[in-house]
Amino acid sequence: MDVRLDGRAGVVTGASRGIGEAIAREILVAGAAGVVLTGRRPETLQPLVDDLEAEFGPRVVAEPGNVRDADHAAVAVATAVRTFGSCDLLVNNAGTNPSAGPLTAVDMDAVDATWDVNQRAPLVWARAAWHGWMAEHGGAIVSIGSVGGLAPGPMIGAYNVSKAALHHLTRQLALELAPRVRVNAIAAAVVRTRLSESLWAADPAGAAAAHPLGRLGEPIDVARAAVFLLSEHASWVSGVILPVDGGLSGAGGVLG
Ligand SMILES: NC(=O)c1ccc[n+]([C@@H]2O[C@H](COP(=O)([O-])OP(=O)(O)OC[C@H]3O[C@@H](n4cnc5c(N)ncnc54)[C@H](OP(=O)(O)O)[C@@H]3O)[C@@H](O)[C@H]2O)c1
Repeated sequence: MDVRLDGRAGVVTGASRGIGEAIAREILVAGAAGVVLTGRRPETLQPLVDDLEAEFGPRVVAEPGNVRDADHAAVAVATAVRTFGSCDLLVNNAGTNPSAGPLTAVDMDAVDATWDVNQRAPLVWARAAWHGWMAEHGGAIVSIGSVGGLAPGPMIGAYNVSKAALHHLTRQLALELAPRVRVNAIAAAVVRTRLSESLWAADPAGAAAAHPLGRLGEPIDVARAAVFLLSEHASWVSGVILPVDGGLSGAGGVLG
């Protein structure tokens, strides 16, 4: 049984590279009618849209902007509805981690930025999707959380707190938006992207060995789980934080 998204459309935030790019691609592979890609830089979004259009046809649109901006969220949802006929899908993927270090020492502006992007913006986007389409027509939301939101670690406390808040936001929204909208999150461990370079680039083999399954995650590992949670195969799944982590959290491991 293929996991399919035929006839569905929506938005992936932070889709210009890494996990977001992989999720957008897998949504198209699953047959969605279209996807709106966001990110701050048009110069990185548009070439990706061109590549995806060459592969999948005119089912991709770039909507550049900052995920912190509520007006941008409303515009992106409206673009999905206008261009592809609906906004059934929302992936809160955009994330940041500029704030390494102990919580008592870390720069508070960096903490504000981390919490704003990682935990406040997903609510802003869920509200935009709800008011712009999902309240009337239903839909599914997936947010990209972290194993750092499941257990504290020594290095990236502000990030971990933001992801724990995102996990609870997921459960709260799952309750409030049911039964029309399912809301789930993925708790990823170390996935080989730019964001996580400080966790793996100096010693990829050591970082891989920290995961019981013996390798780092790849963006497609998270993307396939996201498409499952967005699809009808998960039609009785809501309020779940799904670890996609090479076995790390099950073995009691922590991120950073
Ligand atoms: N990689 C990991 O090991 C890992 C583990 C657990 C969870 N995650 C989560 O997975 C998600 C994706 O991370 P990634 O590893 O794929 O990171 P990445 O490669 O750095 O990509 C981040 C994406 O988000 C966009 N973005 C960042 N800040 C933004 C903002 N303020 N407004 C709009 N777009 C913004 C970036 O584009 P621009 O810079 O052009 O805006 C980019 O497209 C994040 O939520 C992250 O916390 C990652």
